[in-house]
Amino acid sequence: MTMTSFTKNPKTKSLPSEVSEDNSSTSRQLDNLKITLISLHGLIRARDPELGRDADTGGQTKYVLELARELAAQPNVREVELLTRQIIDPRVDDDYAQLAEPITNNANIVRIPFGPKRYLRKESLWPYIEMFFDRTLSHFKRAGLPNIIHGHYADAGLAGAQLARLLHIPFVFTGHSLGRVKRQRLSMGKADGSALEKKYKFTTRIEAEEVALETATMVVTSTNQEVEQQYALYDHYVPSRMEVIPPGVDLSSFSPNQKSNKARSSSIARQVTRFLKKPKKPMILTVARPDERKNLEALVRVYGKSPQLQELANLVMVMGSREDLRELPKAQQTIINNVLYLIDLYDLYGKVAYPKSHAPDDVPQLYRLAASTGGVFINPALTEPFGLTLLEAGASGLPIVAPNDGGPRDILANCQNGLLIDPLDDESIEHALLRVLTDQDQWQTWSDNGIHGTRKHYAWQNHAKRYLRDLVDILEHSPTPTITSKPTGRRLPEFDRLIITDLDNTLTGDQESLEAFVDMIRGNDHVGFGVATGRRLDSAMSLIEELGLPRPDLIDTDVGTQLHYGEQLTPDRSWRNAIGYAWQPEKIRATLKKVPGLKLQEEAKQSEFKISYELDTRVSPSSTTIKKILREAGLRAKVVLSLGMFLDVIPVRGGSDMSMRHLLWKWGFAPEHVLVAGDSGNDAGMLLGRTLGVVVGNHSPELNRLRNRPRVYFAQASHAAGILEGVEYYSFLDNIEIPNDRVE
Ligand code: GLC
Ligand code: MG
Repeated sequence: MTMTSFTKNPKTKSLPSEVSEDNSSTSRQLDNLKITLISLHGLIRARDPELGRDADTGGQTKYVLELARELAAQPNVREVELLTRQIIDPRVDDDYAQLAEPITNNANIVRIPFGPKRYLRKESLWPYIEMFFDRTLSHFKRAGLPNIIHGHYADAGLAGAQLARLLHIPFVFTGHSLGRVKRQRLSMGKADGSALEKKYKFTTRIEAEEVALETATMVVTSTNQEVEQQYALYDHYVPSRMEVIPPGVDLSSFSPNQKSNKARSSSIARQVTRFLKKPKKPMILTVARPDERKNLEALVRVYGKSPQLQELANLVMVMGSREDLRELPKAQQTIINNVLYLIDLYDLYGKVAYPKSHAPDDVPQLYRLAASTGGVFINPALTEPFGLTLLEAGASGLPIVAPNDGGPRDILANCQNGLLIDPLDDESIEHALLRVLTDQDQWQTWSDNGIHGTRKHYAWQNHAKRYLRDLVDILEHSPTPTITSKPTGRRLPEFDRLIITDLDNTLTGDQESLEAFVDMIRGNDHVGFGVATGRRLDSAMSLIEELGLPRPDLIDTDVGTQLHYGEQLTPDRSWRNAIGYAWQPEKIRATLKKVPGLKLQEEAKQSEFKISYELDTRVSPSSTTIKKILREAGLRAKVVLSLGMFLDVIPVRGGSDMSMRHLLWKWGFAPEHVLVAGDSGNDAGMLLGRTLGVVVGNHSPELNRLRNRPRVYFAQASHAAGILEGVEYYSFLDNIEIPNDRVE
């Protein structure tokens, strides 16, 4: 069927008799896939060394670009798009301002503008995630829906999960690194966590990761250890959803020496050899950022104390690039200073090279150079969750020495191309290096094993093949999405803007301003009227009647779980079909029965997709704890607190954030033409995002966290007068203005 438009009441009654969507265009095409990858903060080639530090996402960037390229090359993939943030900032490359950039002929980077234009560190992106959500919906409306959404890292994990829930598209998540683990690591020995929390926003990040894990049909990780020591710490860890698919190495760049032996004459070779008295000796090579975890000082110490190692080989340390040492971040300066100090202490002049800078293209040459000398690659890091450099060295035919930790353990088990060490034990490091440098037959075997093993186990092509096999499996077992990408056959609505307001305490509470509001709606035919409330439909309708309000054009009730339109209260069928997803009300009631201070509200307030409680806050746990209790019981639900005392448990696809976006998506309504107003927690979802938000003066404290969010206006006036103040603020009746857009 085709969709009819909204029509403002009460002039006509030609409201949609049935609201559903056309399913015909979404038939399964498993051999013609479109994949959307999202990685919001990476892809930075910084110009400013200050940024270089924050943009510490090199690994993730490489990963998503290679993944995009390789997936796009598979026969059953039509298109891959990699969504990221547009950045307009003189401190970063101009490329980041381009809205689109091809990777290959069917893989593209698409940059979505959201939030401020300038570069932001990843911890500062959180207030703008809803903006990304809404912008991406518009993008999908133009470009068509993907078959799968894959979010990378917590921020894109959250955004991707929300998109996937709304659009009923299967979701894949890769955390890359996880907040719980990082918080543990950084807070060791620190009494006060609040400074860390402020800097790293751990609570927000971890919650985002939980939502991503809750939504994901598949979680792609790199190692088994990552699963056991990182993902397993999460409430929404589900072992069967975890897929260990190690990333690949760029085998076209990292290949073994050719006969021509260009490595020896390369510019990086010249850079290195000018340090060395006997440059033909084998090289002990390390390539690592000067980061405490990388344990670089230990390596110099071991070498400095071992006459045997000094006799056998040179030490080559590639520790990032630097212009002026003193301009590096303090922590990096300290490490390089210590390295220089140790070189002097042990008088290693002529034996250690530490080139000042190198280009990305130099790195493959370095490995080949070291291999041509019969050298060894060492990663002495204290911990190594993955270790891409080990794969790159191995693929170039250079044997490896690495810490006995998750990444290296998997790599050496697969490739058999070197030795594991205990990074805290100098002797173990020395012995391993001596062994590789002295046993020539073994050296050759390790070198060959690395070349072949990486090609067998760590080719991106194999990664892509395994990934797609799992993906097709998921798609075969998931229902066809019910929402079409392009609504068809719609007439333009008679109104071109829409006010959606909560009832209790937002619209109600002050008779005089309520009447002024009603006059405003009745006097402006171009403004539609909608209601969003925690009440049940029946109770909302009787209140509307009681107050003498105009019949709403749309009504969103039961805490964003029920959607109806117009005079006939026509249910939104597609919403209705999807809302019950993963909803287990009996189990939720049973689980929460035992929680102290939690009392069910009266039966007339309960409904099919809403279980409502009243809290006795003197004895009840916090809403966060209640959420955790549900998660630990394996139950999927949203927990919404309003007025500090009403607690609603609703399905994961419910809530005013989801219902609002469903509406906008379905009717193609521009978010800037929709003003939403509310006063308490159940309104928070719809207040965030690209719609124009108004929080009335008498709001409850739950909404304080929305202060300073873009497009959320806090009115001075209370109740309906607050809404009218907001209407004024955005010039909503005339030429809409958005003073709080915060895009600068
Ligand atoms: C309304 C509902 C109640 C709900 C509250 C908060 O008052 O009647 O059940 O808990 O809103 O959403
Ligand atoms: Mg309210």
